Amino acid sequence: MSGDVSQKTERSAAQRDIQSHVRMLRADLERRWSSASGRVHEISRYALLPAGKLLRPLLLLESARAVGGASPAVVSAALGVEYLHVGSLVHDDVIDNDELRRGRPSVLARNGVADAIVTGDALLLTMFVALTECVDHGVPAAAVLEAVRVLAEAGVDLCRGQAMESDMVGNLDCGLDRYLTMIGLKTGALFRGACHSGALLGGGSPAQVQLMARFGEHLGLAFQIHDDLLSYIADSEVLGKPTASDVTNRRPTYPVLIAYQVAGPADRARLELALSGQLSETDAYGLMKELLDTTGALALTRERAAHEVRLATGCLADLPGEDGVAVLAAIAESSINRER
Ligand code: IPE
Ligand code: IPE
Ligand code: MG
Repeated sequence: MSGDVSQKTERSAAQRDIQSHVRMLRADLERRWSSASGRVHEISRYALLPAGKLLRPLLLLESARAVGGASPAVVSAALGVEYLHVGSLVHDDVIDNDELRRGRPSVLARNGVADAIVTGDALLLTMFVALTECVDHGVPAAAVLEAVRVLAEAGVDLCRGQAMESDMVGNLDCGLDRYLTMIGLKTGALFRGACHSGALLGGGSPAQVQLMARFGEHLGLAFQIHDDLLSYIADSEVLGKPTASDVTNRRPTYPVLIAYQVAGPADRARLELALSGQLSETDAYGLMKELLDTTGALALTRERAAHEVRLATGCLADLPGEDGVAVLAAIAESSINRER
């Protein structure tokens, strides 16, 4: 087989693996939440299903495979990561006052703030229940304990990132470095935690575990930077969340900050106006879209996301589980080529 043909064959095998593993995760999630009763359970089920992209659970599973571990034993941990993720989304929609999530009313819009707070709390605590179930499937208790520590720390980092983001409202001078630190916490930490804990549960060596953690962190940065871009280039219906949320909440995201960095005085003043909260949502959003395009910020943002993907895939060399590695590489590639 020529190099090109074998690369294509590997890629389509990875895509098939992704599809079948996502199907399996979705079915497991449905099964586990089919008999939900009581309000907190009912709202949790609503938040979890229909499922989103299931990226973090997939990352946990594939990281276990990439270090040569068996993935079925770690499925409950993978779902645990999804519980933490969805709990954080329920809370995030309260913080951002967003009424649309995954193309339907957010828990905030459907049930109000009080239920969104308790359901988010319940979901993230359910992660710990799910993680400990791995012991019942033969994963050594010491590895499970370590995974609990890693994911609890990731959850704390996520909260620190959310708090840091609140401190940056409307601040175009906050700087790209601080912004990158913030998204490394808000989003990178859970990607990192999913890969790190997957490698631990899969029995990886300390060096392999560290590589997987770094892979996850770079991928998380790429994912969030691309997500920042989607707010200005995607369609709200396709995205399933309000595209104007970032500008309405006066978020200095990656594209906005890079635009501010390269802009001249006139465009800087217009960027300040767009993020000032003084314009209507439609005007602020329209102005920001125009400026991100004319300053070249959209292209620069894509470049930075692609750079993070290269750093991520660079961590995948020399891992023993070829199939898991191929899937992780495919996930990394698609994280910056997605429309939702
Ligand atoms: C949304 O994450 C939150 C961000 C980090 C941008 P996803 O885009 O993975 O959300 P779902 O789970 O697929 O809905
Ligand atoms: C990411 O925040 C969500 C978390 C890390 C909890 P965003 O506000 O950027 O994500 P979306 O756009 O609401 O999904
Ligand atoms: Mg949000």
